[in-house]
Amino acid sequence: MASSAIPTNATSRPKPDWEAARYLAFERERTRPARDLLAQIPPELSPKRIVDLGCGPGNSTSLLAERYPDAYLAGMDSSPNMLEKARATLPNVTFELGDMADYTPPQLESGLQVDLFYSNAAFQWLRADERVPAFKRLLRQLPERGVFACQVPDNFEEPSHAMMRQVASQARFRDIYAAQGDAGPGNRGWPTVSQLYDALKPVCRSVDIWHTFYQHRLEGHQAIVDWVSTTGLRPFLEPLDEQLKKEFVERYLELLRPHYPLLVDGGVFLRFPRLFMVMVR
Ligand SMILES: C[S@@+](CC[C@H](N)C(=O)[O-])C[C@H]1O[C@@H](n2cnc3c(N)ncnc32)[C@H](O)[C@@H]1O
Repeated sequence: MASSAIPTNATSRPKPDWEAARYLAFERERTRPARDLLAQIPPELSPKRIVDLGCGPGNSTSLLAERYPDAYLAGMDSSPNMLEKARATLPNVTFELGDMADYTPPQLESGLQVDLFYSNAAFQWLRADERVPAFKRLLRQLPERGVFACQVPDNFEEPSHAMMRQVASQARFRDIYAAQGDAGPGNRGWPTVSQLYDALKPVCRSVDIWHTFYQHRLEGHQAIVDWVSTTGLRPFLEPLDEQLKKEFVERYLELLRPHYPLLVDGGVFLRFPRLFMVMVR
């Protein structure tokens, strides 16, 4: 895999950092949709320059490296901790700090275009009003027949996420989140597939959209908390002190139980809808 030194795209977006090691506790489950997305990239595309947007610890980037060993491959992410892990895992790939909301691949500056943008489980972290403009910006940077492949969790209405909002609306917590305004948690739902299609088709040759509902068998209710505590639950816990964090998690766990019945072996199914888009410029 070819790689070259490219400048850092600095980000001004203040974000508490991720924890790569804890995120990877469910690596097999989290990487499965990344593989499913990769499988739908048109086989006729043979990309020369690829960027993994929101590459995290490099698990999705590894899949791209396997499938396209001869392409120039870069990963970008807004988390220094995730990038550190990614660089250690894939020393031959260029990883850069940046913000997907205003990202421009540095290669463009020397006139070479990225022909595959790939983003697994990252775009949901942009604010709802930033997402479609960011998709369009990036799509416009692709050459004709270039591809943008994207997967995002679409679990806003699932009990795993609705119950977070329910706890957050309780008197004990709601003022803390209200003080955060638009930057607060809970602003993460997706438009309908028709709305997305209508917004993106004008800048694309084709837009393939679908959902897959995964049923992840986890070890029990605490495992659901462990899963979301490095992702969707993080923004709810971050503004709380240790005591309030503990109370939040206890109430959340209590509310989760009736929605996730125990299986015969003591496990639970975490139903996990995900939205996929493969857009061809
Ligand atoms: C759930 S992880 C996904 C990691 C990896 N792509 C995977 O397939 O598992 C989401 C990643 O998006 C990154 N992220 C969140 N907001 C971002 C932004 N505005 N710009 C770039 N990366 C961002 C996070 O730092 C995190 O590493």
